[in-house]
Amino acid sequence: MIQAVRGTKDILPDTIDTWYFLEETARIISELYGYRELRTPSFEKTEVFSRGVGEGTDIVNKEMYTFLDKGGESITLRPEMTASLVRAVIQSGTYQQNSVSKYWYFAPFYRYERPQKGRLRQFHQFGAECISSPYPESDVEIIQLTHSFIQALGIEEYKLMLNSLGNSASRDVYRNALIEFLKDNKENLTEDSRNRLEINPLRVLDSKAENDIVIVKNAPIILDYLDNESKDHFEKVKSLLDSLGIGYEITPKLVRGLDYYCHTVFEFQSSALGAQDSFGGGGRYNTLFSQLGGKETPAVGFAMGVERLILILESLNKLPKTEAEADVFVVSLNLDFQAYAANIAQILRAKGLKTATDLQRRSMKAQMREANKCGAKYAVIIGDSEFENKQITIKNLSESSQETIGIELIPEYDFKF
Ligand code: HAM
Repeated sequence: MIQAVRGTKDILPDTIDTWYFLEETARIISELYGYRELRTPSFEKTEVFSRGVGEGTDIVNKEMYTFLDKGGESITLRPEMTASLVRAVIQSGTYQQNSVSKYWYFAPFYRYERPQKGRLRQFHQFGAECISSPYPESDVEIIQLTHSFIQALGIEEYKLMLNSLGNSASRDVYRNALIEFLKDNKENLTEDSRNRLEINPLRVLDSKAENDIVIVKNAPIILDYLDNESKDHFEKVKSLLDSLGIGYEITPKLVRGLDYYCHTVFEFQSSALGAQDSFGGGGRYNTLFSQLGGKETPAVGFAMGVERLILILESLNKLPKTEAEADVFVVSLNLDFQAYAANIAQILRAKGLKTATDLQRRSMKAQMREANKCGAKYAVIIGDSEFENKQITIKNLSESSQETIGIELIPEYDFKF
């Protein structure tokens, strides 16, 4: 038997209602905030991500599905959306200074990571990006949108971790201070962190290794290095969140795993998840447009992992109920009634009722069993007398009541659900 590729999952019909619920909620909430959906191809030229996400990141170094296509071009399956979306917006030429454009997406992404609970090689994200506002109001709108979405799903307990990486001037000063500190402790750092020290020292703060955690505890924190502009931005974000009643936890070591961030960064955590407890994150990125060849344009956004949201909903027992396959099952007692049964089914579907018919040429008893199995509330029975008199018998399967009506009355008949 050929198995699916490790770290990928089929979404079978018995769980599809959860996906419809998440997709629909994502769409409704995004539209309430004035965001419009943008879809991009699932693969891009590799440089979109190597330049966008950053050469020093785990995503680019270790996790990308990259291959040469038959024309010899280096192609990468998108590991995230922000760089693709910015590429698409630059290409379409639709962004302007002083005019905000807002996008959302719900799509599959690809990262070659070690699969475990909540970590897949093809996973899905719901995300949104707000382009062209440099102001903290847009950081907060993005966080507010995530808050509305999480609430709409019925998730009440989660942590919003918040930090500022400041502008590039603040970050440079901090970077030097951090390098100095880490160099003094270099021999105790893991090899991974020693390597990061040179290329991407902020990522050492993110290390999950015991040794590194002990050292990093005493490291300088970026919030002490913010200049006035960066401080003002962060203070405004916090005060707006306060006035909206959105709780957060200042997390000075939160740096995120992608290179494009500045100023506000944030992450969502849930105790319902195991080791992979972060179910989403985002932040401001003011240099990504110019890095990808566009005009310098400030922007902010977030993405949430859909599979991780499903794990949370599952643990809270809040997955939506699976919809019945059919509302009505047409039971036909004789093979000669096939065309009649198919026509009746059409009339029922025209009423908006999900209608199934017998496709296995089974006995009446077996058809009634099937009606129950597919969750139908009604069986519409076609026997000799119904066939001859242009009638149907409607049996309410939960009440065991039934009545016979002429087919001309089907459009008005009140099926109760
Ligand atoms: P990210 O933190 O790399 O950010 O991913 C966001 C979320 O996607 C994670 O919190 C997690 O829930 C989910 N995720 C990531 N990798 C996997 C995986 N291998 N398996 C399952 N779920 C996963 C970004 O991707 C940024 N583009 C977010 C952003 C948008 N920043 C600004 N705008």
